[in-house]
Amino acid sequence: MIKKSNKKNNKYYITTAIDYANAAPHIGHAYEKVCADVIARWHRLKGEDVFFLTGTDENAQKNVAAAKEASVDVAAFVKQNSQKFIELCETLNISYDYFIRTTEERHAKISQLILQKMFDKGDIYKGQYEGLYCQGCEAFITEKELVDGKCPEHNAKPEVICEESYFFKLSKYQDKILALLETNLVAPETRRNEMINRVKEGLNDLSVSRKDIDWGISMPFDKEHKIYVWVDALINYISALDYPKGDKFKTYWPADLHLVGKGINWFHSVIWPAMLLSIEIELPKKVYVHGYLTAEGKKISKSLGNIVDPIPLTKEFKADPIRLFLLKGIVFGQDGDFSQDSFIQRYNSDLANDLGNLLNRSLTMVEKYFDGVIPEPEDNTYKNDALVVEASGLADKLTQAMSLLDLNGALDLIWGLINKANKYIEDSKPWQLKKTDEQSLKTVIYNLLEVLRIVSVAVSSFIPKTADEMLSQLGLKDHLSDDGFDELFKWGKLEVDKNISKADPLFPRIKKE
Ligand code: ME8
Ligand code: MG
Repeated sequence: MIKKSNKKNNKYYITTAIDYANAAPHIGHAYEKVCADVIARWHRLKGEDVFFLTGTDENAQKNVAAAKEASVDVAAFVKQNSQKFIELCETLNISYDYFIRTTEERHAKISQLILQKMFDKGDIYKGQYEGLYCQGCEAFITEKELVDGKCPEHNAKPEVICEESYFFKLSKYQDKILALLETNLVAPETRRNEMINRVKEGLNDLSVSRKDIDWGISMPFDKEHKIYVWVDALINYISALDYPKGDKFKTYWPADLHLVGKGINWFHSVIWPAMLLSIEIELPKKVYVHGYLTAEGKKISKSLGNIVDPIPLTKEFKADPIRLFLLKGIVFGQDGDFSQDSFIQRYNSDLANDLGNLLNRSLTMVEKYFDGVIPEPEDNTYKNDALVVEASGLADKLTQAMSLLDLNGALDLIWGLINKANKYIEDSKPWQLKKTDEQSLKTVIYNLLEVLRIVSVAVSSFIPKTADEMLSQLGLKDHLSDDGFDELFKWGKLEVDKNISKADPLFPRIKKE
């Protein structure tokens, strides 16, 4: 059994951004969830007590606007869209532990508690906001940030706002935030530097309330104001843990990783830490900022009509091929593109050719040469085999890559082993050994099966269904829950004389239309 421990040093708390419930999910949302899921599963494989949080951001004005446009009651509308994000998670096999909706009662209560604390501390004061607001961003925006008078992220003109508002003394925390950014809070480095440069320009206090709107969470000390949606949204990371007294909060906070896209770095690396400093709780250990996906080379946008709907896409091609494309075909931290052509190309090469063939060829040989029974390798001689050495060293290399969140690098390591194993078949020519050297044939086949077992364990965080199917074809159902990380990756665990099941191709080639 993978041991679970409640000790705090063995916990791992990972979050995604919570998605606006103003529309159905797009491939960028799918991307973020898949990446977070891999990291969560990896830490579980390591035996850690993982809490993986995702959810929907429901108190935004843009949700209200979209509901109006659809002529649907706002609460019903955000619920409908939230369901689509839940369905997306299910379709993609996202192993979240909790899906938060910020319209939950408990979230409202905890948000109010926190705003009250910030107010009592003297960090919130009443003032007048005059400036520009981009509803797409749900954020105030400065003249300087506009391109041709429009928000460059949403290609939309901001509204002019002039109203009474409560402000959070963000400026008070400037030095502390800067010092924090200069440690390792934010990764990758380019993203950290962007934040450092912006903070150095000086922090303005942040408007944290909106007047005269009727959707959202009321300010605890002034019911005429609603809490600014970004402020309540950020609080989800601790309301989901029942801050301040809940067991989950005590066990899992601080977050080990907030995974977010590049458009919302500022909120997570500057505003959120400042809020936490204000309420005097520990800061997250890491904010990792991933890149943006385009679809068929174009920016994902509703108005361009190029939203790749990830739910039917995943239903058509299955979760694991889509996951693998997003993880292996895109350098984590950088921007990437999803196109159907490159997806099919990668599917055929990575899955049908490399992994699928290795599994199928190997199992077919076990059937053909050994009646489906795992043969006994020669004692000791195989242990110096280059392939065996490579497979035995995989766990350490993967651990290194994953500790740097080098997701595509980790997959390249695994595929390096897969390709070596395929080459091992070409080089050792089992079909000739069958005629000349039965004992070597046994060793070669055993080694291939053992590599396949280790590959299955290694890919289990990335393409979990595939790992299960591979292991079940190897006669190792439930293998992953049998042992801990180190044991699973050890060479020579495969039992000889055991029956494996019949080879069944996992990844038939996709013909290009
Ligand atoms: O920003 N490619 O919600 P959101 C990759 N509610 N990732 C993308 C993307 C793209 N093309 N477009 C967006 C929000 N994302 C807020 C978050 S968190 C307390 C509140 C990422 O639905 C985006 O950067 O606009 C964010 O991490 C997530 O998807 C949700 O975006
Ligand atoms: Mg957005």
